Amino acid sequence: MKVDAERFLADLHKLRGFGAAGVGKGVVRPAYSKADIAARDWLAERMQQAGLTPHFDPVGNLFGLTEGRSLLLGSHSDSQPEGGWLDGALGVIAALEVARAAQEAGGPPISVVSFEDEEGRFGVTTGSAVWAGSTPLEVADGLTDRDGTGFAEARAVMADRAGDFIDPARFTGYVEMHIEQGPVLDGSGEKVGVVTDIVGIRDMRITFTGQQNHAGTTPMHLRRDAFQAVAAFNAAINARFCNVVTPATVWTIGHVSLHPNASSIVPGRATFSMQWRDGDSDRLARMERIIRDTAEEIAQAQGMDLSYGPMLGLEPVAMDATLRAALEAGAEAVAPGNWRKMPSGALHDATNVARLMPVAMLFTPSIGGISHAFEEDTDEADLVAGLEVLAEAAARLG
Ligand code: GLV
Ligand code: MN
Ligand code: MN
Repeated sequence: MKVDAERFLADLHKLRGFGAAGVGKGVVRPAYSKADIAARDWLAERMQQAGLTPHFDPVGNLFGLTEGRSLLLGSHSDSQPEGGWLDGALGVIAALEVARAAQEAGGPPISVVSFEDEEGRFGVTTGSAVWAGSTPLEVADGLTDRDGTGFAEARAVMADRAGDFIDPARFTGYVEMHIEQGPVLDGSGEKVGVVTDIVGIRDMRITFTGQQNHAGTTPMHLRRDAFQAVAAFNAAINARFCNVVTPATVWTIGHVSLHPNASSIVPGRATFSMQWRDGDSDRLARMERIIRDTAEEIAQAQGMDLSYGPMLGLEPVAMDATLRAALEAGAEAVAPGNWRKMPSGALHDATNVARLMPVAMLFTPSIGGISHAFEEDTDEADLVAGLEVLAEAAARLG
């Protein structure tokens, strides 16, 4: 089979047009937004034109199916609230190009998927988590986004397109191509990363509730200021994690919502996201204990009520040896001596799909290691090299 680099790049730029925003090649295409749904409708059309049968499942995951059993390639096409043009989109369009080339060549059989809500507007990799059974649909339906919209309500917008969930037994394995989203390949000058394993993650919302009050008349010693509780919590966990973490461990408070969020009001309520990631499940559990103990101590010391949202998480996952070997052979064929094996610190749909079938992943470099930002980019020659590695691996596996 012969992939067409120009056709692949043209499709990738076309997808960027759905939700194009911000500086450079930025994209705003969160799950179930108008831009996301329009992009999915366009992708379904492109799948059809490529000789695949498009199929939406009940949560908006879009499959492009070939006949019989096949290898599944893909990623996601939703974006972060402020995202780049390649995160997820690259893996979907590369999959489309490889499947299209395979159709033209008369094989091997390859299907394509674009998972929904990988970026976690509602949960953590919600679409693939529901498909793989790691999050039951009833549980996902109870999740809300940061503005309070429910998952059930959001996915209902696509109900007219939805068929059943696809039987995973149709597929022999899943391979996901993605940008690295970190500085390693860009720093070393290597063209390709073959992923060894994907880290685990925990994510939850924490709420401190104090007393909303007047910012001019309320003496400092009488305040129950929810923002001060968040600030104290952050300082305390940074200090306490020191004994537990490794240089590869990461944690983030990425979203804070203060109520009522006004300069002359002592905030009465603060809800914030607490997320942490590591390759070791035991360490993730130890960090959870520290987080809960610290939140409880601070709540007590500062007169706060404390509550937690649902705890979301995925375990670390190792890549399948056979699929990985095919990617390594492809990498050596396309970029001899200029690729490496590496872990993934970002989360991917492959983690969920690993519950259903063998999975593997392939990275291309990210310029400056930047992602989840409008500035995210990759040299087009590197995108094409990655496409060629994916096609090589698919041909070997086919
Ligand atoms: C996925 O985008 C992640 O947060 O790693
Ligand atoms: Mn992604
Ligand atoms: Mn992402």
